[in-house]
Order: sequence, then C-alpha cells, then structure tokens
Amino acid sequence: MTERGVTIWFTGLSGAGKTTIAEQLVQIARDRGRNVEMLDGDVVRTNLSKGLGFSKEDRDINIRRIGFVCNLLARNGVIAVASAISPYRAIRDEVRATHDDFVEVYVRCSIEKLTERDVKGLYAKALSGEIKNFTGVSDPYEEPLTPEVLLDSETETEEESLAKLVAKLEELGHLPPA
Ligand code: ADX
Repeated sequence: MTERGVTIWFTGLSGAGKTTIAEQLVQIARDRGRNVEMLDGDVVRTNLSKGLGFSKEDRDINIRRIGFVCNLLARNGVIAVASAISPYRAIRDEVRATHDDFVEVYVRCSIEKLTERDVKGLYAKALSGEIKNFTGVSDPYEEPLTPEVLLDSETETEEESLAKLVAKLEELGHLPPA
C-alpha cells in the first residue's frame, strides 16, 4: 500500500529561514524511509516559473504552479515540501483546498531582524528603493491566521524550530517516528 502523502507548505518573508528548515525536514523524512520532494521558490523560478516577476499576478501564478505539482506528488504518497514566500493568504488557501492533506508552516521573523541579518543583501536594496515591490518592505505579506505550525526564527534556535516541526508532523501522522 502506498503511504499517505502530504504537502508541507512553508510560508514567510525572504530570509526568515524557510528553506533551511525545509531542507533539514527533507533529510529527516528520507532517513525515516519516506519519498520526499522539495519545491523551493528560488529554484522553481529558474525553471518551472522562469520569466515570472514579483507582481501579484506573477506571484499568484508561481504559487499555483508549485501547489499544482505538490498536489500531484502528495496524492501519490510523496511528502511534498514547498518553500516560497507565498505572500497572499487567499492563494495559499486555494492551494490548500486542492489537497487532502496540507500542513502550513509559518516561519515568522520581524522585518527589523531580517534587515539586520540581510543574508542576501536584498533588504538594504529594498529599503533604498533599488529593488521595488519587495515583500515586507514595499509589498504585502499576509500572515497565516491559523497555521498548523508556527516557527519563530527570531526567538527560537534552528534546532528548536526543527524539533517543534518534527514533533507536530509525528503527532499528525505525517512522519514515522525515528
Ligand atoms: S513568491 O512571492 O512568488 O512566493 P518566491 O518565494 O518564489 O516568492 O521568491 C522569493 C525570492 O526571490 C526571495 O527570497 C528573493 O531572493 C527573491 N526576490 C527578488 N525580488 C523580490 C521581491 N521583489 N520580493 C520578494 N522576493 C524577491
């Protein structure tokens, strides 16, 4: 019998730590014998969504594409892990509605902290106006109201966030115990 698939959807601002945690989750799920695929916004934008920009229309198309592929995978027993800002609540909920099993993981971090970290140097450029429509600075981010999992990368260590996530996925029956 095929194992039950699920989409684990990471949302949050750029630099909040979505991909870092998602990559670790992928490794854990593989180690526990599950088939896993990851769809990362930065990667998808170099192939499946190549040519799309950051207008609301383009972001919506990007998220719908990622959601579509995740659903194909999840309904065939795969753990599909998505990592994209996905700033609009309505589109995230639209993607959720196509799924039987969907877990939303909000990786929260304040703009102040992200600007201070600024790993990719993008917040400085957004604040100076060099990059326009940058999420959280000059473009909206609609926080999830009731995410299944809330990780706070400002107050938690990476290890703490990961442990919290793994425990919740085990509890929901999406991850076999170690
Ligand atoms: S989404 O809004 O469509 O979900 P996605 O996660 O695919 O975004 O891509 C976000 C990444 O694109 C950021 O981490 C950042 O590296 C880069 N980026 C470039 N321009 C912008 C912008 N205007 N707003 C947000 N991210 C941007």
